Amino acid sequence: MYPRLCLLHQLLREDGVTFISIDDNEVHHLRMLMDEIFGEKNFFAILTRRAMHTVRNSSKDFNHNADYTLVYAKEKSWFGEDKSRYIRYITDKSAKYPHNDNDGRGKYKLDPLSARNYYKPYTFTFENGAVWSPPSGRYPSYSQDTLRSMEREGRIDFSGNEPRAKRYLSEVQEGQPPDVFLSPEIVGFNKEGTSELRNIFGEGGVFPQPKPVKFIKFLLELLRSKDAIILDSFAGSGTTAHAVMEQNREDRGSRRFILVEVEPKIAREITAVRLERVSEGYTYEQKGRLQHVFGTGGSFSYYHVGETFLEKQEIPFSEMAQLLFFKETGTPMAVNTVVSIMEGDRPSYGACNAAERYKRAFLGSADGVGVYLLNSEDILTEDLIDRLPPHDGSKVIHCGGTQLTEATLKQLGITFRQMPYNLV
Ligand SMILES: C[S@@+](CC[C@H](N)C(=O)[O-])C[C@H]1O[C@@H](n2cnc3c(N)ncnc32)[C@H](O)[C@@H]1O
Repeated sequence: MYPRLCLLHQLLREDGVTFISIDDNEVHHLRMLMDEIFGEKNFFAILTRRAMHTVRNSSKDFNHNADYTLVYAKEKSWFGEDKSRYIRYITDKSAKYPHNDNDGRGKYKLDPLSARNYYKPYTFTFENGAVWSPPSGRYPSYSQDTLRSMEREGRIDFSGNEPRAKRYLSEVQEGQPPDVFLSPEIVGFNKEGTSELRNIFGEGGVFPQPKPVKFIKFLLELLRSKDAIILDSFAGSGTTAHAVMEQNREDRGSRRFILVEVEPKIAREITAVRLERVSEGYTYEQKGRLQHVFGTGGSFSYYHVGETFLEKQEIPFSEMAQLLFFKETGTPMAVNTVVSIMEGDRPSYGACNAAERYKRAFLGSADGVGVYLLNSEDILTEDLIDRLPPHDGSKVIHCGGTQLTEATLKQLGITFRQMPYNLV
């Protein structure tokens, strides 16, 4: 895991956080690796979740049902700089702030002007004539000067038996520090993850112990950034992306996700299918009745990572073409062009004649720029250019050399890229 964690650390932004879920077999090793790579000072917490709600009676000793989540920041000090950056579990406190004067200051609650902490007692006369002193055993919460300004600012309520202070919801710290023992009502058990998958795919348990969506949504909420980029490099059944899409729908967020899954069968048949169904909506049967889950909206692109490109004995034309097109335009090649040039990989690129090479040299265009890929033996001449598939606009041409001067290239709207330096 060491090199993978180093890479993930490099990819993380300064305000980023990493959550890693693990059981008690390896948690101690992971903690040490993370301390080394992320730095001890960036350790936030180990969260403990009851993953399984049942007791395995076959266990000879303890019922190992805890799932740990290690939380590290890229730069923990960033989160301490400002209250708005604190890690908080946002709860709706508005019910505890029932009053509102409709003066723009919002909801407030009423607190006594006294507390049990010692403060030199005094009797205070408000400008409206009301006289107040703390009840026996209690002491003033504020200085006389503060009380005076609170009265002038309309922050004292005189409607009850004694004057009280108005505490505004907008002025209290948002949310509460999240507990490291996670509550099952908030984060769910793995069995909920299993039924979520069953509802999407039908019977048959397509994935062992998937995490409940609720759990990942809870982690997303802690971060409060509604436009975060969430990377899950061990995607499995795709719970992370499912949670991102649901959370976006619920709070109108625009979070984006990147999932990585090493097993092509899982990626194709589980991860991608789940995300398609979650975004478009699906129907399942429960107790003989059909239930419909509306789509969350949102979309994703699916990419297949090929073999390490430059280590290949012979690089197929279609792969070189896709790489250069993306490098040149910042967008992937159109799928139908990829399919047509993949068919063109036979006979191999090296073995085809000039006419065949010219025919498939045009890779498509982006923002009006046409991209062409020839062979390292092809030398650019006006005659060769005339034989290429036409493109109405400027062109970028990759080939072995050019006989044309810079002035001619400019006049023809051509950018020449010399192979193999075009790969650097
Ligand atoms: C424990 S599962 C993740 C479960 C996921 N949290 C869920 O709720 O479904 C881990 C996944 O990571 C994948 N995996 C293992 N090694 C990997 C690697 N080096 N790169 C990407 N994925 C990997 C496995 O194939 C497996 O699907």
